[in-house]
Amino acid sequence: MINIKTSHEIELMRVAGSIVGETHKYLIPFIKPGITTKELDKLAYDFIISKQAIPSFKGYDGYPGSICTSINDEVVHGIPSMRKLKEGDIISIDIGACYKGYHGDSAWTYKVGHISKEKEYLMKHTETSLFEGLKQIRPGARIGDIGNAIETYANKHKLGVVKELVGHGVGTNLHEMPDVPNYGKKNTGPLLKEGMVIAVEPMLNLGTADIYILDDDWTIITADNKPSAHFEHTVVVTKDGYEILTKR
Ligand code: MF3
Ligand code: CO
Repeated sequence: MINIKTSHEIELMRVAGSIVGETHKYLIPFIKPGITTKELDKLAYDFIISKQAIPSFKGYDGYPGSICTSINDEVVHGIPSMRKLKEGDIISIDIGACYKGYHGDSAWTYKVGHISKEKEYLMKHTETSLFEGLKQIRPGARIGDIGNAIETYANKHKLGVVKELVGHGVGTNLHEMPDVPNYGKKNTGPLLKEGMVIAVEPMLNLGTADIYILDDDWTIITADNKPSAHFEHTVVVTKDGYEILTKR
């Protein structure tokens, strides 16, 4: 079942989303060579708590962190650790916050100091692919339209689309129906209706689309160890389009 949110629920989700966006902005000045991902995790935890919210990921299926920190060839779900950021890394930071029972979810990829041209290319086009997907959203469009736009854009730029992980509905649960794949056919899949809230989250790779999971049972990495980027917004379907809830 796909939930339609009331205007009161959307108001709470706007607050949850803005806490996620603010947490991202708060972390940016700390994303420098030498900081550990555990330190970023602690900063995010304290910030989210200070906003009367709870980190959505902590304890989810036993996940140990408050945020996910995925570096270079790590696609998603990197666990914060004593690993230090290095000049030339890219790091995807995924943040969820729950405010009065409603979640917001947004990931963004950041550069650490000066990065290679290839990583710049990957980041720029993965971010654009998110907005190509979002542009499809309005009542009457279908979930497949979003994935098709992302996949078409990624193919045009020779980037690998991760298929095993998908976007999702968001609400009182972090993950709700429908699944929102980053690939698909136009005019297929669930119909979008005003008041639906979904997270769209392309994960694009510089090389192969193939991935595998590390022994920690969380961290997903690319099969060829080439870098991966991840951009995600939670949005609500409006009368004539969409509104980003996780604005930054
Ligand atoms: N944004 C990710 C997702 O939507 C975060 C999940 S991490 C987890 O799936 F720890 F919560 F699982
Ligand atoms: Co998500």
